Amino acid sequence: MIYSRIAGTGSHLPDKVVTNHDLEQTLDTSDQWIRERTGICERRVAADNETTSVLAEQACLKALEAAACDPSEIDLFIIGTTTPDLIFPSTACLLQKKLGLPDCGAMDVNAACSGFLYALNIADKYIRCGDAKKVLVCGAETLSKIVNWSKRETAVLFADGAGAVVLEAAGEPGILSSHIHANGDYMDLLTTNAGVSVGWEETKDNGGKPEIQMRGNEVFKVAVRTLGRIVEETLGSNNLQKSDLNWLIPHQANLRIITAMAKMLDMSMDHVVVTVDRHGNSSAASVPLALDEAVRDGRIKRGDLLMLEAFGGGFTWGSALIRY
Ligand code: ACO
Repeated sequence: MIYSRIAGTGSHLPDKVVTNHDLEQTLDTSDQWIRERTGICERRVAADNETTSVLAEQACLKALEAAACDPSEIDLFIIGTTTPDLIFPSTACLLQKKLGLPDCGAMDVNAACSGFLYALNIADKYIRCGDAKKVLVCGAETLSKIVNWSKRETAVLFADGAGAVVLEAAGEPGILSSHIHANGDYMDLLTTNAGVSVGWEETKDNGGKPEIQMRGNEVFKVAVRTLGRIVEETLGSNNLQKSDLNWLIPHQANLRIITAMAKMLDMSMDHVVVTVDRHGNSSAASVPLALDEAVRDGRIKRGDLLMLEAFGGGFTWGSALIRY
C-alpha cells in the first residue's frame, strides 16, 4: 500500500500587524468586544504589493526546505485560496514559475476556509494511487483585500497569511483519512457580492470594491454543529477514539468555535493549537499556519496523532486525521 506523509511544513505572514486598538480608531467597536466574541487580539494584513502568490511563495519555500525537497522533485502543486492574484492564470501557475517547479500539474482549489483541507485531500489521493510521489500543498489568502474596512461585522475578523506542506509517498500512513463536504443551501450566509458571471454590486461604502458579506451568528451555529459531525466521521472511519488524539489543529475563525470543538473531543486546550488571537481568520491559510507554528516550536512531534478541521463559505467543510 502507498500512503502519504507530511515531509515538511512552512508558513509566512505579512509584517503589518493591525491590533484591535487600531480598529477602535476607525470602527464602532472595542478591544473588549472583539476579544470576548472572537478571541482575536491582532491580525496580519498584506501590503499593497503583497499578493496571495507573494505570501504563498515564502511559505512554500520554507516547506520545501523543511522537507529537504528540491522544487524539481515536485510532481503536483495545489493551492487552496479564495483570493487568487488574478482570475487567470491560476495562482498555482504563477507559483509554478516563482518556485521553479517542473511543468507538473498546478491547480487552485476554491473552497473558502476549507481550501487547504480540500487541497490536502486531493494531494493524498494522487499519492495513494501512485500518480505522484511528492506534492506541494498550500493554503494562502489576502482576505484583507476583499474586506470592507468600514464594516465592523467583518473587518475585525479576517486576515492574511500562507501555510504549506510537502506530502510524500510512504509505506506507513501519514494521512490516515481525509474528508470533504459541501452544501450550497447556505451560500447566502457567507459570500462575496462580486463575480465574473454575476458581475458587481456597487458598494457605496467600499469604493465600489467587492466585499465579504456574512451573517456571522447563523454561520457560527452551523459551523459548530457541522464540525462536530465531521470529527465524529473522521474518528469513526478509522475506528479511533477521542482519547487517541494528541492535537487538534482547527480552522482559526473564532476562539469560541475552537473551544466548543475541544469540548466535543474531550481535549484540554493545552492540546489545541490556537493562533486566532494573533493571526485572525486567514481562511485557507489558517490550518497550515497553525500546523507549522506547532511543528516548529516543538509541540507537535513525529508520531503524534493530529486532527485537522475547517469550515467555510459555501458552506464547505473538511478534516484530516494525520499521524505526523
Ligand atoms: N464590534 C462591536 N459590536 C459588534 C461587532 C463589532 N466588531 N460586530 C457585531 N457587533 C454587534 C452586532 O451589531 C450586534 O449588535 P445588536 O445586539 O445591537 O444587534 C451584537 O454585536 C451581536 O452580534 P452577533 O453577530 O450576534 O455576535 P456574535 O456573538 O455571533 O459574534 C461573530 C459575531 C464573531 C462574527 C461570530 O458570529 C462568528 O465568529 N461567526 C462564525 C464565523 C465563521 O466561522 N466563519 C466561517 C469561516 S470564514 C470563511 O469561510 C471565509
